Amino acid sequence: MTEVDIKKGLAGVVVDVTAISKVNPETNSLLYRGYPVQELAATQPFEAVAHLLWTGNLPTAAELAELRATERQHRALSPEVKAAIDILPTTAHPMDEVRTAVSVIGALDATGDVMDAAGTPEENQERAIRLWAQLPAIVAYGQRRRRGEELIAPRDDLDYSANFLWMTFGEEQHEIVVDAFNRSMTLYAEHSFNASTFTSRVIASTLSDLYSAVTGAIGALKGPLHGGANEAVLHIFDAIGSAENVTPWLDEALGAKRKIMGFGHRVYKRGDSRVPTMKAALDTLVTHYDRPEVAALYDALESEFVARKGIYPNLDYPSGPAYNLMGFDTLTFTPLFVAARVTGWTAHIMEQLASNALIRPLSEYVGPAERHIDGYVATD
Ligand code: SDX
Repeated sequence: MTEVDIKKGLAGVVVDVTAISKVNPETNSLLYRGYPVQELAATQPFEAVAHLLWTGNLPTAAELAELRATERQHRALSPEVKAAIDILPTTAHPMDEVRTAVSVIGALDATGDVMDAAGTPEENQERAIRLWAQLPAIVAYGQRRRRGEELIAPRDDLDYSANFLWMTFGEEQHEIVVDAFNRSMTLYAEHSFNASTFTSRVIASTLSDLYSAVTGAIGALKGPLHGGANEAVLHIFDAIGSAENVTPWLDEALGAKRKIMGFGHRVYKRGDSRVPTMKAALDTLVTHYDRPEVAALYDALESEFVARKGIYPNLDYPSGPAYNLMGFDTLTFTPLFVAARVTGWTAHIMEQLASNALIRPLSEYVGPAERHIDGYVATD
């Protein structure tokens, strides 16, 4: 049998081109439409980064004002979506809750011609903005209902990040918290052909609709090897407790051959380009909330794991403790990832729809050789 070169997990395989972002492990860098993500996270509101991902350019003042006005029009949780969420038990997986909400939004967005699922580029740009605008309310309400708290209406005097925090906590947050949150949204927004984004492209490649592609991506992101890792990082911090317990905890975990969530990456092998920016945001929160023990545990675990395994933190490692300090429940972490990544997903969905190329790879058959029924009937 001729040897076939199988690329399991598509590791290292370039399957298409994209103009949206460039992940460069050699220089440990990440560009969104050519801009270094560190510069965007440090200087731009998330609304401007969303505009950049969708259109290819940072917005003019007029374009930013228009996007902010449109986002404000769609940020209130619609009664239909709230009703759909309220059907679910508060013990449902938060990602199933988010996926349900997006499915309902899609089902209600009848474009008239139900067989024209893909829609036009203009329709999909509007859908992307509406979905992006609705997700903060969906995520915020999810945390509040799990806590037995009521829905909080959005405030038009607050921009995206400040309003997201308002709808979650019911009080305005310090600018240090808003800035750290805004940076996290930018850092989580886009990362080329990661598992959930590639899932959304496969669905879009059949000319299915944007909502179906986003719900598929949510399913992929739910997994602990991908988006579920930031939640798992907090469970690890809780299990270790303090810096003094890192060594015995690592001895046991590595001895049991467990993967340490928040570390490692399929593409970055010498550290995730986004970590320094998110770590800097975490440091501002550690100071703001006077929680030096969080930094001590973070540093102790990172330095010992890197020394023992030569595997570096990914974005989920600093973002978990950062979201915890902001007051988000651990179950809310991966839905926060959805709220940010929906910008990258929808940019890729629109790019895939424009390329109009069905994604359908091959497989190498290793089952039984051809054989025939020869009168076979199922008998005991
Ligand atoms: C995200 O793709 C993206 O861009 C994703 C993402 C994005 O923005 O979309 O960056 C977001 O998903 C970040 C990754 C979050 N996941 C985790 O933190 C889960 C823990 N990480 C690992 O599961 C792992 O590092 C992966 C899945 C992320 C990447 O794994 P690879 O590249 O497939 O490498 P591998 O699993 O083959 O590991 C190679 C070796 C193995 O050892 P051996 O079996 O060869 O002895 O390294 C070991 C692994 O066991 N290893 C780890 C480890 N990661 C790799 N060992 C312990 N803990 C880890 N975290």
